[in-house]
Amino acid sequence: MEYRNLLVERVAQGAVARVTVNRPSVLNALDAETLRELDAAMEAIADDDGMRAVVLTGAGEKAFVAGADIKAMVELGPEAASEFAALGHRLGDRIAGMPQIVIAAVNGFALGGGCELALACDFAYASERAKFGQPEVNLAVIPGFGGTSRLARRIGLPRAIELVTTGATIDAQEALRIGLVNKVLPPGELLGAAQAAAETIAKKGPRAVANAKRSLRAADERPLSQHNRLEIELFGACFATEDQKEGMRAFLEKRPAQFKGR
Ligand code: CAA
Repeated sequence: MEYRNLLVERVAQGAVARVTVNRPSVLNALDAETLRELDAAMEAIADDDGMRAVVLTGAGEKAFVAGADIKAMVELGPEAASEFAALGHRLGDRIAGMPQIVIAAVNGFALGGGCELALACDFAYASERAKFGQPEVNLAVIPGFGGTSRLARRIGLPRAIELVTTGATIDAQEALRIGLVNKVLPPGELLGAAQAAAETIAKKGPRAVANAKRSLRAADERPLSQHNRLEIELFGACFATEDQKEGMRAFLEKRPAQFKGR
């Protein structure tokens, strides 16, 4: 499929997708078309059995994504604004629901909807140059793509309230300290590190990775008492796969496992 605002490449012998938001003239800001394209790209990847992990990044040296597109939002009324926010949430739900792990490689500004996009990914690495924040209150609006929900879960409620209501921007080291990102790397090493993590994951049993993601994400949303039952079921489901037998036999036979995704 052709995209106007995205680059979608297959790397690592096709097992890893690299998705680049490509609107550098507006620091990769997200308009409705770009949100729809991201959703369609993630849907296609989710349906692709050969695709095992995704790296999501922004074009150019300056920005991951500098937010929702302010020019596209300025004249919206309340209903249209809610519909726009729903597009961002659909994409966040898509990423949460897809079987592959999605890693954000945050190469620069991740503000507003850009910070929310990084948060929607399964985890994020950042360049030393990255900057994070939810500056929506500066525009007299609030985060609309999950910044009042996912951010609080990721960094805790008081820190989220402080970031969202001051509109402050934080640097990559602070983002690391508060758990917004997992690693900070020199700019030239960011994509390589994210890709290496994606390739490591791509070599594991794909059904096990998908079940692990599903179970971990469900735990984040449900009370623990309900969640434990799902974990028990998904653990059992792994034992219906050929890969589980292969993985355990390979260990016992002291040889590398050959996973088939079945
Ligand atoms: N939407 C639309 N255009 C944007 C944009 C955005 N979010 N961010 C940057 N741009 C455009 C600028 O208008 C500028 O365009 P022109 O060259 O045509 O003037 C171009 O990108 C380059 O940006 P700057 O000249 O501003 O670059 P800078 O280095 O001086 O500043 C910046 C960089 C601090 C990131 C600044 O661009 C900025 O503050 N951007 C807006 C950040 C923001 O408020 N994001 C939140 C948006 S609201 C939101 O996201 C709601 C939600 O949760 C759904």
